[in-house]
Amino acid sequence: MKKTIFRLLTAAFFCITGVFQSVNAAELPKIIERDGRHALTVDGKPYLLLAAQTNNSANYPAALPDVWPVVEQMHANTLVIPVAWEQVEPDEGEFDFSFVDTLIKQAREKEVRLVLLWFATWKNNAPHYAPSWVKLDNRRFPRVKTEDGKTLNSLSPHHRSTLEADKKAFVQLMRHLKKVDRQRTVIMVQVQNEVGTYGSARDYSDAAQKVFQQPVPQKLLDNTGKKPGNWREVFGKDADEFFHAWHIGRFVDEIAEAGKQEYPLPMYVNVALRNPYHPGEPGQYSSGGATDNVIHIWKAAAPHIDMISPDIYFRDHKTATRVMDLYAREDNPLYIAEIGNDQPYVRYFFDAMGHGALGFAPFGMDNTKYSNFPLGAETMDEKVIKPFADLYRVFGAMGSEWAEISLNHRTWGFSEPVDTFAPDKELWNARGSDGEEKTEKDPEDYTQRQNLGDWSAEITYGRPAFWIDPPKGNNPASGGAVIAELGKNEYLVVGYHARVSFSPSKELEGEQFTFDRVEEGHFNDGEWVFERVWNGDQTDWGLNFIYRPHVLKVKLATYEID
Ligand code: DGJ
Repeated sequence: MKKTIFRLLTAAFFCITGVFQSVNAAELPKIIERDGRHALTVDGKPYLLLAAQTNNSANYPAALPDVWPVVEQMHANTLVIPVAWEQVEPDEGEFDFSFVDTLIKQAREKEVRLVLLWFATWKNNAPHYAPSWVKLDNRRFPRVKTEDGKTLNSLSPHHRSTLEADKKAFVQLMRHLKKVDRQRTVIMVQVQNEVGTYGSARDYSDAAQKVFQQPVPQKLLDNTGKKPGNWREVFGKDADEFFHAWHIGRFVDEIAEAGKQEYPLPMYVNVALRNPYHPGEPGQYSSGGATDNVIHIWKAAAPHIDMISPDIYFRDHKTATRVMDLYAREDNPLYIAEIGNDQPYVRYFFDAMGHGALGFAPFGMDNTKYSNFPLGAETMDEKVIKPFADLYRVFGAMGSEWAEISLNHRTWGFSEPVDTFAPDKELWNARGSDGEEKTEKDPEDYTQRQNLGDWSAEITYGRPAFWIDPPKGNNPASGGAVIAELGKNEYLVVGYHARVSFSPSKELEGEQFTFDRVEEGHFNDGEWVFERVWNGDQTDWGLNFIYRPHVLKVKLATYEID
């Protein structure tokens, strides 16, 4: 008897102290900010998300064997993959997280982290991934109505019934993650997918019209510096889109807030972009999503969303890099939530790093035998994977160090500016891309210059590694480079199919200068590990990066002459 009581007491003690839970809780992932620069921390250390996103519908155990090999070949450290409302709550109130459990188990075996995409009320504007009991019940979960009374297949953000149902499921998901994932295999969650509505600037149903006549909420007035009034009075011709953006933003925010109360992982939204150069009308693009013109509305509406992240399917340099300029803000860390997986997009990795991005996630990286061409590559094969793998291998080996550098130092990214994709030009332009075929060009077109302070950098593309021949561009355009300022006269440089040269800027004009030392090396546990000095042919014609990226620490110097 005494023994039994002792055993019971011991068991109770262990239960209470949590010793039965075999794994110690790791530190929660967080997004941190320092002087307008950002980092995601995982296990308490800065983490560079070198991600692969699956195709849609890969969210079942049967698809996973087609996913992991590509993740491995790419050297990705993170898998971005959907979790659908329809699969976790097929019948109302009955939850099934078996896919999430399988996924987490396999990710741990592969030592890969996860970002989960909550496909629910909105997946590319529609409720396709909502359970049947939601998407077939338009009375309880009403859809958006156009101005002329048509019903669209996009749920309205104006109904508590929809919000409460989605929120309840999301809260269950976060509660489940908290319970099963003390290791923090899941490091971030995307709330919904490409929210918004195609075909109308907003909901014009009677319910929505009533709200539209009401005063604009004070918080939005404060954030925009506007005087009180109803939506039309305050925002004029932008009122319809701003109204939709605000209400979708509030809806998503309430879901994120409730989820974070359970388990506070970083949360973000991804954006079906409008073309920044010729945007068209709201509704032609996904109205209400956080397109570049309504980022400020979203920031006011959704304080629990840590970042607004672009999905980049513009192949051309001008548009892809403009998108990064628009979304990398002091109040918004850049994370490339999706980018096409075809060859022209690879080089934009360097621009993302230059903008201090938390990560990069090419879309459709699996062997499920689907291709979203013309957005991405036509077929998934070695050729698609290799250039990503080349970059991820190098940046993966210094992920934490790079993320730390980019949190604390100025960085500049460059990618080859002249587009060379020719096939299906009409198609790209139909999709709003600004791509141009390569015609006769000047060497200047293949030259980028950047003032770094005391020094200037020049990046050129498509010239032999030896000699001064003018740049002619690579065919296909594939070059890029990133420069981080480590200290006075000292830079970390990584490039690919590009030449990087330095010269004194205005500050040092007229001075004699030289490379003091160029070291190739790598990082180990935060420490720089020297491998060799680049000199002679390797530096006489600038720093030439050819078939694979190298990591260089460059020390520049001036010297006096008599
Ligand atoms: C962007 C969406 O977010 C993805 O889920 C996918 O539908 C792509 N577009 C197109 O393949």
